[in-house]
Amino acid sequence: MSENKKIVVVYRSKSGFAKNYAIWLSEKLKCDLLEGTKAKAKDLLSYDTIIYGAGLYAIGINGIKLITKNYDLLKNKKLIVYAVGASPSRSETTEEVRKANIPAEQLDKIKFFYLRGGFDYSRLTFFNKILMTLMKIKLKNTKNPDADAKGMLASYDHPLDFTNVKYIEPILKFIGIGE
Ligand SMILES: Cc1cc2nc3c(=O)[nH]c(=O)nc-3n(C[C@H](O)[C@H](O)[C@H](O)COP(=O)(O)O)c2cc1C
Repeated sequence: MSENKKIVVVYRSKSGFAKNYAIWLSEKLKCDLLEGTKAKAKDLLSYDTIIYGAGLYAIGINGIKLITKNYDLLKNKKLIVYAVGASPSRSETTEEVRKANIPAEQLDKIKFFYLRGGFDYSRLTFFNKILMTLMKIKLKNTKNPDADAKGMLASYDHPLDFTNVKYIEPILKFIGIGE
């Protein structure tokens, strides 16, 4: 039974990484947890704080439209979005993802965080397996691959998981819970 009735964590996760963070957040915040494919905007209206988290697919945050398309309904609430990607957390990439996913007029109101997830080829859908196989071919043909490209190539054989409960601390702090 959730104690904090005013906060909800909504997530969409294809291979489990964004879900890890959603579970950790809902446990720390003692709040409701909703799976995003089943959530509708009207399910969010009873909460004061909405945290939406999902995996990053070609810079797009999976299902983010639940928040951005329903912004007029939700704009008086505290809105937090976290994106989970395989790439390391870097300020320029974070800013690029933020601006690509949140319309300009919503940027001031939606607080954005990037949390590092991982990569698990075996858990991808058939379609994404094809996409990522094409990417693997491209990476293999790269003349001087950087550390990220090398790490990505290695992850096709051995799943990478960078999720860590400590990465949710800035979100907890923003909400006013934690140090
Ligand atoms: C087709 C495809 C595109 C991806 N694009 C990105 C990307 O643009 N940036 C990134 O950091 N990670 C990217 N990834 C990696 C995922 O974001 C990463 O595996 C993430 O942890 C998935 O989270 P989820 O399993 O919770 O959905 C991509 C993965 C796939 C399969």
